[in-house]
Amino acid sequence: MAQKFCLSIMFVFSSVILSLQLHAQSVPNPYHYVSHKKIDCKHGAVVSAHPLASQVGVSVLKKGGNAVDAAIATQLALAVVYPGAGNLGGGGFMVACLSGGKKIALDYREKAPAAASKDMYLDAKGDAQPNLSQNGHLASGVPGTVAGIFAALKYCRLPFKKLIQPAIDLAEKGFVITAAEARSLNETQEDFKKYNTVMPVFVKGSAWKAGDTLIQKDLAKTLKMIRDSGAKGFYEGETARLIVEEMQRGKGIITYEDLKNYAAKERDPVVVNYKSDYTIVTMPLPSSGGVLLPQMMRMIEDQPIKSYGFQSVQSVHLMTEIERLAYADRAKYLGDKDFFKVPTKTLISYPYLYHRMESYKPNVAGKSEIIGAGSIPESEETTHLNACDSDGNAVSITTTLNGEYGSRTVVAGAGFLLNNEMDDFSIKPGVANMYGAIGGDANAIAPGKRMLSSMSPTIVLKDGKPYLILGTPGGTTIITSVFQTLVNILEFKMTVQDAVFKPKFHHQWQPDVIYVEKDFPQNVRTQLQQMGYTIQQREPIGRTEVIKISEEGNIEAVGDKRGDDSAEGY
Ligand code: DON
Repeated sequence: MAQKFCLSIMFVFSSVILSLQLHAQSVPNPYHYVSHKKIDCKHGAVVSAHPLASQVGVSVLKKGGNAVDAAIATQLALAVVYPGAGNLGGGGFMVACLSGGKKIALDYREKAPAAASKDMYLDAKGDAQPNLSQNGHLASGVPGTVAGIFAALKYCRLPFKKLIQPAIDLAEKGFVITAAEARSLNETQEDFKKYNTVMPVFVKGSAWKAGDTLIQKDLAKTLKMIRDSGAKGFYEGETARLIVEEMQRGKGIITYEDLKNYAAKERDPVVVNYKSDYTIVTMPLPSSGGVLLPQMMRMIEDQPIKSYGFQSVQSVHLMTEIERLAYADRAKYLGDKDFFKVPTKTLISYPYLYHRMESYKPNVAGKSEIIGAGSIPESEETTHLNACDSDGNAVSITTTLNGEYGSRTVVAGAGFLLNNEMDDFSIKPGVANMYGAIGGDANAIAPGKRMLSSMSPTIVLKDGKPYLILGTPGGTTIITSVFQTLVNILEFKMTVQDAVFKPKFHHQWQPDVIYVEKDFPQNVRTQLQQMGYTIQQREPIGRTEVIKISEEGNIEAVGDKRGDDSAEGY
């Protein structure tokens, strides 16, 4: 009894000492943390899907890092503490607006391996095999995340070692998992067993529960290799060997050359004005958000949406019809513009969009079988984070493995999950991917091509200064979530928290359905049904993170209530 008491006292004492030490270093305590849904602060903020990752980002700001440093450190920490979507084996996009006025769009989307081909997911009868594009070794594109991180370093202030060390510590020493993480690991156990030849740390003999410690030694080893050898620590040498051997064990096709040849790309961000006050800066193709968000904002710009009111039948009808028109264009015209000529300029031009809106009738539900893509004369797991600093830099990153835990295949010995991003290609014209999106030639598979994405990291400037930093996961719902959040704030003048927390809806042309969240008002559903719409209730839509910066420099950061998301700042 006395011994037990002594042991507990010692445990409490050592936990207190550890907490004090961690506090003194201003790094997160991985054994005790809480998520904050909203913070108000003055100097800088980070909002991401996990409290520990947001805390890592803020600790980097406090050490003198800028918003890009903080975003990179947060992204690396997410690869450890949020394995379902944070990643080394996936890809993503970064949009940033720097205090000197420079606007950046960094593309580190995965690419199809050199041995990929248009019909690689069709069987002998020509039928699509989505199981192969969604699970296991063949589902993976060549990962881009590590190349993206190194391409961003030129905008950072601190040495890379300081940005990656918190992730290494979290992987090596472990952290306690949340109830949501335990639930999702438990739900994925059978898939982990099915799609791995060597069992990863995520497979456990008994059920995971909140408070269990997750230690990832192999991942720590890979992170150290990246710390010591840079991008080559991932794309060449030991890690590349482990990836290629993993591929060979599971009939995957990623080779040493694919890895060595991968390069992130800086692109020109999409910059469009909204009314006279705001400038929207977002990701260009291969993000379809770079076309659809400007389309939707421009189609709504001169409509009296504000007078209709938030989630009134008229406003939901108007936004739904706009979404229908935009997503119909997505299916026909959008793909990697390095491989397919995309008429972006026309698609976002006012005359084209005015013409598209002619089909809109204020009191009648549209029909997707009638409303297709416009005619042009010529030819669910992802994660989002935002960071801002006291110098006026703003960063918005969305990164993904595609589905939750990606292909569910962990590179044995290297400890990270590979993406299942190949499913974002159109594996057969007209066949829906895991988000129900269809496509054709524009988004067909070709070696080295990037698959079309919906990820839309976005920054809105007011008088040239960052005003809103936002984005979300959610597959095809990403663009409509960003659209709704912008309309909520810019038109309905909602608080950021309301704009994020209120129920969302989504229409993507095909299927011809308005998806609504559980708490979407019943009376509006009924009236929309009476107009001829099909309404379908679904799981939560997105996990939207927003930072708003007032003219006076006051920062308001909000993490979505739909997950463990957390806003931190100082
Ligand atoms: O790039 C895309 O559009 C998808 N791979 C994103 C996946 C996603 O958001 C899943 N999250 N719930």
